[in-house]
Amino acid sequence: MVGQFHLSALIYWPLRLSVRTPGFHPGKRSSILLGATINFIMYRFDIINKLIKENDFKKYLEIGVCDPTHCFDKVQCEHKEGVDPGVEFEENPVDHTMTSDEFFRFMDDRRPNDRFDVVFIDGLHKSYQVKKDIHNSLRYLNPNGYILLHDCNPPNSFMAREDYLVDGEYREWNGTVWKAIYELRTSRTDLKVCVVDTDWGIGIVQNNFFMDTPLVQRHNPFYEFNIMDANREEDLGLIQVEELDNWLYE
Ligand SMILES: C[S@@+](CC[C@H](N)C(=O)[O-])C[C@H]1O[C@@H](n2cnc3c(N)ncnc32)[C@H](O)[C@@H]1O
Repeated sequence: MVGQFHLSALIYWPLRLSVRTPGFHPGKRSSILLGATINFIMYRFDIINKLIKENDFKKYLEIGVCDPTHCFDKVQCEHKEGVDPGVEFEENPVDHTMTSDEFFRFMDDRRPNDRFDVVFIDGLHKSYQVKKDIHNSLRYLNPNGYILLHDCNPPNSFMAREDYLVDGEYREWNGTVWKAIYELRTSRTDLKVCVVDTDWGIGIVQNNFFMDTPLVQRHNPFYEFNIMDANREEDLGLIQVEELDNWLYE
């Protein structure tokens, strides 16, 4: 009610604290303490660095680099390669100034036996391209490696729209990466797939050699945003940061 002050507003107003936890320790939990909710945050490069460090990985590939100071430069790995045609960041200081499709054709011709430990897919955010990037990355992934994907958990249908441009302007955009995740979770028993609920949703794909990953029912055959929105945990395999260690090492 306007104009009246209640002490209860002070007591019950939820205080949200966000704490970045690059080296997350199992056992820490987001907790409610005196009405304060603490959300643990990991950025994409925190999760990438965690996997590299914990597995002593040596070779990292980033598809879609843009400004490397945002992620690529923050990744700590002995050998790093970046792929980007340079449509968003004019300087484009990457190893491979080309699209991901061109890069994988180059790999097929010149380095067919090379493998990466971590591939981070963050190029063209349309599901048809993300599916191709996943398929090709799996061909060049060490069997015990990981594929990570950015922008897998769009908060609303605007962020999950098909087109980057809105009235002639590039606006914030997650695109339709989530559809590629749903596709994997409904069809691939040979892969383990989740999305960590942080930094716009970080998808993680890992080989499952036992081929026994339970499949999610394909109850959303037309890939409708609203249906996914109501079933994020199951459709995307959405987990919280504090559940990541369990997911990785269960
Ligand atoms: C969202 S930005 C990447 C951001 C960066 N990975 C980060 O974490 O800060 C997307 C990049 O993908 C690039 N891109 C667009 N189409 C691509 C394609 N077909 N293959 C590879 N990269 C592409 C764009 O040029 C752009 O630089």
